[in-house]
Amino acid sequence: MTLLRDCWYLALLGRRLKRGRMVAKTMLGEPVVIGRRADGEVFALRNICPHRGMPLHHGRLEDGGVRCCYHGWKFGTEDGRCTDIPSLTDEQTFHLERVRVKLYPCREVQGNIWVYIARNGTSKETPTDLPPVPRMPDIGERGPRFALSMDFACDIDQAVVGLMDPTHLGYVHTSWWWHKRNRKPRLKEKSYVPFGNGFRLERHELKGGARPYRILGKNVTTEITFQLPAVRVEHIKGDRHSVVSLTAITPLTETTSEVHQCMYWTIRGLGLLCPIMQRLARTFLGQDRDVVIRQAAGLAYDPPLILIDDADTQAKWYYRLKQRQLECQEQGKPFKNPLKARILRYRS
Ligand code: FES
Ligand SMILES: [Fe+2]
Repeated sequence: MTLLRDCWYLALLGRRLKRGRMVAKTMLGEPVVIGRRADGEVFALRNICPHRGMPLHHGRLEDGGVRCCYHGWKFGTEDGRCTDIPSLTDEQTFHLERVRVKLYPCREVQGNIWVYIARNGTSKETPTDLPPVPRMPDIGERGPRFALSMDFACDIDQAVVGLMDPTHLGYVHTSWWWHKRNRKPRLKEKSYVPFGNGFRLERHELKGGARPYRILGKNVTTEITFQLPAVRVEHIKGDRHSVVSLTAITPLTETTSEVHQCMYWTIRGLGLLCPIMQRLARTFLGQDRDVVIRQAAGLAYDPPLILIDDADTQAKWYYRLKQRQLECQEQGKPFKNPLKARILRYRS
């Protein structure tokens, strides 16, 4: 399984990282420490001290640098260069600045911290010329009203395909408040267009089950965009307000993934509803996580899979886009979206 690099991945919710604190993460199999300096800025470094391999998150943040907990070597959070080795005496000439920890590009956007994982492996050069960090439409700079993250015991491909799959709803998400068991599947017809390095379900009116959305005003419509590596944004809007749902998946390793779900909205005073909605979202996402755990027992035998039209067409698109992206990266060519506009018809 190849993981896509040269991409931004969502690492964690910004408010989970207080000033002066660091957290350890594994992202695409790489050990990363993410921290927030006293001035509020975030940074990400390889979580291994180049002296004797101690994970840096055990250390402390000191004047904008990270001090390793083992022998006190200190590293700048702006370039990863070593700035202090306490054991050196005045007459010992040692070029501190030659010692360096890999620095990852790291940005905090609309309440989430994103880390750019490049293809340059263990190279210490920080990549430049980065693509923009994914941004949510219509909600300004505010962070999510609620967010949750869940580990899935599967590779990123299965996590993506599982979450975009339109026909599992009636089988997996059968909570009373969402989808009744044994309901007869209805015919769906949805119009998709290629978009960026992914595809978009074009803006359309929300029908049936849309009553709670009247709070957004009249003419409530929705649009869903999926882009590589695994960023899905649903933008529901009425003539007064918007709701935006972000699902971003980050591979922790080749075989485990972290699914982040964030909700943004522009309506004031829904604070009381947050815990309820967060709970419902946790149940919903938990159902997806549990089905993937069951599925893993079958996938362990590496069976050939049958993806059918049109129910699994989005899954096929995902694999095609990813393949194209990998080829373009390898050949140093700009990405050209291989998809065509299409209407997908299926029952769900
Ligand atoms: S291992 Fe970090 S300073 Fe020695
Ligand atoms: Fe699901």
